[in-house]
Amino acid sequence: MAKITVIGTGTMGSGIAQASLSSGYDVTMIAHSQKSVQEAASRVESGFDKAVSAKAITQEQKLAMMSRLSVSDDIASSAGSDFIIEAVSEDFDTKEGVLKSAEKYLGAGILATNTSSIPISQLAAGLSRKDVFIGIHFFNPVPVMKVVELIGGDSTSPNTISKSSEFVKKLGKTPVEVKDSPGFIANRLLMLFINEAARALDQGVATKEGIDTIAKLGLHHPMGPLELADFIGVDVCNDIMLEIFRRTDDKAFDPAESIKRLVKEGRLGRKSGKGFYDYAAKA
Ligand code: 3HC
Repeated sequence: MAKITVIGTGTMGSGIAQASLSSGYDVTMIAHSQKSVQEAASRVESGFDKAVSAKAITQEQKLAMMSRLSVSDDIASSAGSDFIIEAVSEDFDTKEGVLKSAEKYLGAGILATNTSSIPISQLAAGLSRKDVFIGIHFFNPVPVMKVVELIGGDSTSPNTISKSSEFVKKLGKTPVEVKDSPGFIANRLLMLFINEAARALDQGVATKEGIDTIAKLGLHHPMGPLELADFIGVDVCNDIMLEIFRRTDDKAFDPAESIKRLVKEGRLGRKSGKGFYDYAAKA
C-alpha cells in the first residue's frame, strides 16, 4: 500500500496525514477551499516541527516526509488511493455528502470515516460500496496517541477489517475492534467524564483548576477533563454528547449548562483562544 488520501484539513485530518507520512505513505489531503489548501501543509509541518524539537526526527527527515504530501481542493485527486479517510466535521449530512463523493474515486481501495460517534451502518446506508467502508477512529494528537478504534458496519467485509488493522499497525498503533454503537468505547467513556466534570463545575463543587488538578494528581490523567475539553474543542465535545444523547436517550450525555454556554459564546477551547480556560491571557 502506498497512497493515503485524507479528506479534511483540521486537527484530526492533519494528524492522520502526519502519522501516515511518518510511516512512509504518500499522502494527499483534500481541502474544501483554496484557503484551506494553503493552511493544510503548514498545519502538518508544524506537527513535524514538534517532533524535530523533541529530537524524534531531523529537519532533513521532516523535509523528506513533507515532500510526499500533496494538497488539493479537488476530490478527484483521491483516485488510486489504498485508503481514503474522511475526517471532516462531526455532522451526519456533511460526512455523508463527502463519503458519497469520495466513493466515486475509490477504485480498489478502502473508504474510512474518522467519526467519533456516528454509527457506521447509518453512514454506509447512502453508499454503494458498503463492504469496503469502515470506521477508523483516531485520537488527538494522532502522531502521539497509540490506539485506534476499528468499527465495522453491518456490511463491512472481514477483508476490509483485516486490511485496516494492518494499516493501523503500520502506523505504529494498536487497533481495537469495537461494535458499531453510539460513541463506540472511547467517547462513551470520555464524554461522561467531561460532562460530569462540567456539571460539578456548574454546581460549584470545585473550581475548574481544582477539578483538573484532582484528575491529574489523583487519577493520574495527563490532562484534567476541562483542559481536555478545551484541547478537543468544546464544540466537538458538545456535538459528540448530543449525538450519543439523541441515539441512546441517556440523560448523562445531555451537555452540561457550561458546555452549552461556551459553545453559544464561541468559546470553543484552545483553537478559539478561550474555552473553560483563557489561552489568550497565557500567550
Ligand atoms: N507530532 C509528533 N510528536 C508530537 C506531536 C506531533 N504532532 N505533538 C506532540 N508531540 C510529542 C512532543 O514532541 C513530545 O515528545 P517527547 O515526549 O519525546 O518530548 C510528546 O509528544 C509530548 O508532547 P508535549 O511535551 O508537547 O506535551 P505533554 O507532555 O504535555 O503531552 C499530550 C501532551 C500528549 C497532549 C498529553 O497532555 C496527553 O496525552 N493529553 C491527553 C490527550 C487525550 O486524552 N487525547 C484523546 C482525546 S479523545 C479523542 O481524540 C477522540 C475524539 O473523538 C474526541
